[in-house]
Parts: sequence; structure tokens; C-alpha cells
Amino acid sequence: MRRQNGCLPPKRLPQLDPLMGTDVVLQNLGAARKFGFLDLLKSRHDTHGLTFTTNTYLRTTINTCDPVLIQNVLSFQFHDFGMGPLRRRSASPLLGRGIFTTDDEVWQHQRALIRPSFVRAQVTDFTIFGHHIDQLIALIARRNYTVDLQQLFFRMVLDSNSEYMFGESVGLMSETASESATTFHHALDYAQQGTILRLRLGNLMFAHRDKKFRDSCRTVHAYAERFVDQALEYRRAQAMLPDEKKDGNDGTRPKYVFLNELAKDTDDPILLRDQIVNMLLAARDTTAGLLSFTFFMLARRSDVWAKLRADVLQHYCEPLTYDAVMEMTYLRYVLQETLRMFPPIATNSRMANKDTVLPVGGGPDGKSPLLVAKHNVVTYSTFVMHRRKEFFGPDADEFRPERWETLRPGWEYLPFNGGPRICPGQKFALTESSYTIARLLHAFSGIENLDPTEWREQLTLSLTLNNGVQCRLTPAA
Ligand code: HEM
Repeated sequence: MRRQNGCLPPKRLPQLDPLMGTDVVLQNLGAARKFGFLDLLKSRHDTHGLTFTTNTYLRTTINTCDPVLIQNVLSFQFHDFGMGPLRRRSASPLLGRGIFTTDDEVWQHQRALIRPSFVRAQVTDFTIFGHHIDQLIALIARRNYTVDLQQLFFRMVLDSNSEYMFGESVGLMSETASESATTFHHALDYAQQGTILRLRLGNLMFAHRDKKFRDSCRTVHAYAERFVDQALEYRRAQAMLPDEKKDGNDGTRPKYVFLNELAKDTDDPILLRDQIVNMLLAARDTTAGLLSFTFFMLARRSDVWAKLRADVLQHYCEPLTYDAVMEMTYLRYVLQETLRMFPPIATNSRMANKDTVLPVGGGPDGKSPLLVAKHNVVTYSTFVMHRRKEFFGPDADEFRPERWETLRPGWEYLPFNGGPRICPGQKFALTESSYTIARLLHAFSGIENLDPTEWREQLTLSLTLNNGVQCRLTPAA
């Protein structure tokens, strides 16, 4: 295959231990401890080019930030790559057989199940979010306008998304948040950290024996199962009604509940539970991360804050509508720029499910075909790719939303992934984030940064800020 396709060996990261890769693993861990894993990855690519390999735990990984290679993996050669057994084994205690851990027909079925829930009418309906932002603004006032916004965004996103998905908000922002809600919130965090640890351990995953992790997964599942039972009850009740009395057929518009919609197509409680936990996790950290990084930058860039606030106020109306938010062009640029510099899914990977050939990645310049053996992993970093000067210009390391006035990137800009597994929640996330930002910039006239340090990476399944967003907001007159 190698000869037939003119494949050349890829560049390799020089390693002292080329079998187990202990030197690379230790370097990775050391950088992560100093919140600098992504910077380390970026500097490796600066030195070794767009594509190079590393060997760890007897496994070869192809590291890349080459958009052509990534497009082939995610789109043109989609069927040659999958999530693979490693990802399934590490994530299954929390995510079961949900959309994030499955491939082929099982994944296709899951994807078909959730597709109808992202129709335009649902994702552009601001009534889902409105009172959660009211609560957020009230909470900021109760804390005397001095807050860690990241902490609040995590709660707000979980509150609003759980209402959309379960039909009932977890209620973390209310003054009387129930104990089960707080326990669920912490369990979700712990279970997620354990999942990423297992993923990093790779073939040594068997060494991960943490009772608290298993208990946390059980807590999350038990919380979700309560709502699954309600959805199945709803399904049974609907089935008993004559057609003209069923929800939506009697002229009224019932409240949209994602889980009820899923339950129309399946009555498998485990499948429903896994789907909803996958969705909740997919939605919470990414959206909260995007909002946090946006305000992290706004607190440090008074020029961007002023320009953004002018844009928001120019188009603002009460109640705020989807069309008004769509008019806020600079808001769109700010979000695009934040997703470029701080993509919530900063690194990702796929495993080859057979021997296959990629058209690039081989040879000293990475431009020759590359043989990928079955079970080898391709790891790609949007964080690194989004900061490459050859794609985004000499100021690629700068936060400059204005670049989006003319920028029309292709596969070199990939915050929501691409190909058949592109994020189905993209529109939902951008709508929720735009609405939240517009409401906050309307409610507050200024933001003061209370944290003199640079950003410190916190990389679990998604990218967030280890130092949060410490700031003081000024209420608008
Ligand atoms: C700023 C916010 C978001 C970002 C940056 C983001 C990004 C991504 C990325 C990069 C993937 C690909 C993961 C992979 O294939 O390994 C993905 C998948 C997914 N996202 Fe999002 N996401 C966001 C918000 C959301 C929201 C709000 C939802 C749901 C309401 C959602 C639901 C999903 C689902 C279900 C998948 C799996 C798709 C599949 O495998 O077919 N995401 N997202």
C-alpha cells in the first residue's frame, strides 16, 4: 500500500523513549500542571511543522494541524476513521453508548434521533433563555457586581439547557437551589474529570480505580433517569389520547421538551438516558467556555467592550428578538474571534479502523501521501491550527474581531468540527451565547478586570479558564 501510493514516512518528534514515550508523557504532564499543554503543542508544531508523529504506550499518534489532512479524516475518508474503542472504554462509565462514543449504524441512529430537535423554530426561540438571564443579572447584583463570571455561566447554561432538555431547570442559580441539583452539578464535574483522566491514561486505563468517579457517574445517571421516567410517562399518556387531542394537534403549542421528543422515537430508558447525558455535557461546558472566554477578553479590552456595546445598543429592542440579535454584526465577529483563539474543543482525535492512505502528512514537508495503519490515532488541534500565521495572518496571536470583516476561512477554522459529525448544536449555542451577551451588555455599562494574570488553560473534555473571569460590572443607568 505504501509503495503503491507513494507514501513517505512522516516527521517524528525526537524521543528518548520511542516505545513507551515516557519522556513525551512526562513533558505533557509537566506542561499541563503549569496550565501550558496547548502552548507546548503549539511550540512542537512550530518546530516540526503541520504534521508529526509521537509514540506513547506502544501506540503511534499522528499529530496534525493541517486542514487538508483534517478534512480527509473528518469528511472525504469519514468511513476509514471512528471514535474507536479507546474513547468508548474511557467515556462509557459516564456517557454509556451515547452519540459521543459510538460509530457506524449505532451513531447514525443516535444522530437521526436528535436531528429534529435542532430545527430553526426551536433554536431561535429566546423564550427558552429569557428568565435564566434575568436570574443571572439578579445574581450579579446580589453579589455586589463583583463576580467570577465563568462560575455563573456554568450554572446558567446548565439551568437553561436542562429546562430545554428535561422540561425542568436544574435551578442552580435560584437562591434555594436544591441539594440534589448541587450534588448533580458536582458529580457531573467529577465524572467528567475522571473521563478525561482515563482518556489520557490510554492503554493504562485499567489503573484508574476511583470509587468517587463511579459514584459520580451513578449520581448523574440517577438524576437523568428521573426525567427519562417522566418522558416515558408522557409517551404513554400521549399514546392513550385520540389524535386530535395529542400535543401540538389541538391548536396549542406545547412547551418544547427535548427528552419528550426523543421518547417519541424510542422507549429504551438506557438509550434515552445516555443521549440526554451526552447532550447535556456537549452543551454545558462548550457554551459556558465560549461565554467565559468572551468576557475574559472583554474585561481586558475596553476598546472591544465599547464597540460591542455600541453595536448591541444600536439594535436592542424589548423584548429582545432573534432578528435584532442577527443585526449585531460586531457581536458575531467577537464570537467568531473568541472561537478562533479559544476553541472549546481544543484538541480532538479519530482512530483508523483499517489501513488507509491520507493524501498529505508524509515526507519532511508533510506534503506526500501518508500511510495510516489500523488503530493508529490522528490527533488534531484546532487551538494550534487557529493560531497559525499562514492561515490567519502575522497577527494570528492577537484578539482582533475586525479580521472577520473580510475573513472567509475553510477547513482551517473548525470550532464546531466538520463533515458528517459536525456539531448539531452549533446554531443553538451561537443563539444562546449571542442572546446572553447582548442582554448583559445592555444591563451593564462597564466591566473592570480584577485579575492581573494571563489566561491559564484548564483542559478537560473542553477548554475553560483555570483562573475564571474575575471582574466587577457596572450596572447601566
Ligand atoms: C460553543 C459551543 C459548542 C461548541 C464549540 C461545540 C463543538 C463541538 C465539536 C467540536 C464537536 C465534535 C466532537 C467530535 O466529533 O469529537 C461537537 C459535537 C457535538 N455537539 Fe457541539 N459544540 C457546542 C455546543 C453544543 C450544544 C449547545 C449542543 C446541544 C444542544 C451540542 C451538541 C453536540 C452533539 C450532540 C455532538 C456530537 C455529534 C456527533 O458525534 O454526531 N453542542 N460539538
